[in-house]
Amino acid sequence: MLNKIGLIGGGNIGGVLLQELFRRKLAKTVALMDVKGPDFAKGKCLDIAEATPISKSDVQFEAGKDYDVLEGAEIIINTAGVPRTKRPDGTIPTREELLATNLKITDLVAGGIKKYCPDAFVVSVANPLDAIVYRLYQSLQPSKNKLMGMAGALDSSRYRYFVASAAGVSVENVEAMVLGGHGDTMVPIRSCCRIAGIPVEKFVDEETLGQLETRTRKAGGEVVGLLGVGSAFVSPAVAALDMVESIVFDKKKIIPTCVLLEGEYGVNGLFVGVPVIIGKNGIEKIIELDLTEDEKAGFQRSVAAVQKTVDEIKTKG
Ligand code: NAI
Ligand code: 2OP
Repeated sequence: MLNKIGLIGGGNIGGVLLQELFRRKLAKTVALMDVKGPDFAKGKCLDIAEATPISKSDVQFEAGKDYDVLEGAEIIINTAGVPRTKRPDGTIPTREELLATNLKITDLVAGGIKKYCPDAFVVSVANPLDAIVYRLYQSLQPSKNKLMGMAGALDSSRYRYFVASAAGVSVENVEAMVLGGHGDTMVPIRSCCRIAGIPVEKFVDEETLGQLETRTRKAGGEVVGLLGVGSAFVSPAVAALDMVESIVFDKKKIIPTCVLLEGEYGVNGLFVGVPVIIGKNGIEKIIELDLTEDEKAGFQRSVAAVQKTVDEIKTKG
């Protein structure tokens, strides 16, 4: 159990995270900071705290609309940012279209982290994921192990779910990874997809696998279209918690995570999703896979898409 975990943004994803942080007892104190005011963050926490005698959790909370509540946090989970939402004409914006708004929010967030918990591990969730993590990196200049973005954990879980449904097996039997950026170019890695250790092709035919992979790439948009307002929030929160638990309990779990690449996978100076070992030191190791030629080409396309968004940041200043 840590002393303190800080959560920035108590909206849809933050709300689920908050509830789970109390329930899973990952830290003695959970701090929620949200600009929605004047007392939104306190209200979110008090609501959950008042159930703790029944839910059996002695987790304490600190809450407010100023970043000082994060002082001393050992891990920060950042969900501050607007989500995608379906337009009145039924079309769905890309994650990249959130960039201008979420960059401004991210700069405030980075200022708060820098001032009150500069040594914290940061697990960032806001979109466009890879570019926002890059911006945090520019502002915070953390050591490489401390800053990570959550996307691959969610995208891989979606791929596993679709494969399990098609194969008619338990989700627990399916292992799979999605790498690259958290956009429509993300790359489901079929060569790593196994069902109880057996290659997925034994269970699901080529055409169906292709369809599942396309569905995986568009899965975020599918939920946006169905919800009508906002984007997926339970699955992203659960995926982020998988990463946080691996730090808290030093689990050394291998999770596809958006991290700084410095030569790995032939990429330099960008944050992109690759498999890593996560433990008490944060990102403990980047694992380089032998991808197929198709997967390599897909990964390079995805890196180019991330680069394009990062270049926009550079021109926006
Ligand atoms: P939401 O709108 O429900 O919650 C965002 C919260 O951030 C709001 O309560 C807002 O008041 C708060 N906020 C805004 N500016 C802030 C600031 N400067 N400091 C602190 N809090 C601030 O949005 P939701 O659904 O929780 O999504 C959050 C972000 O996560 C979005 O950018 C969304 O696109 C992204 N997302 C990322 C996923 C991933 O796989 N990485 C998956 C799904 C969503
Ligand atoms: C998702 O993948 C929109 O990034 C968000 O659900």
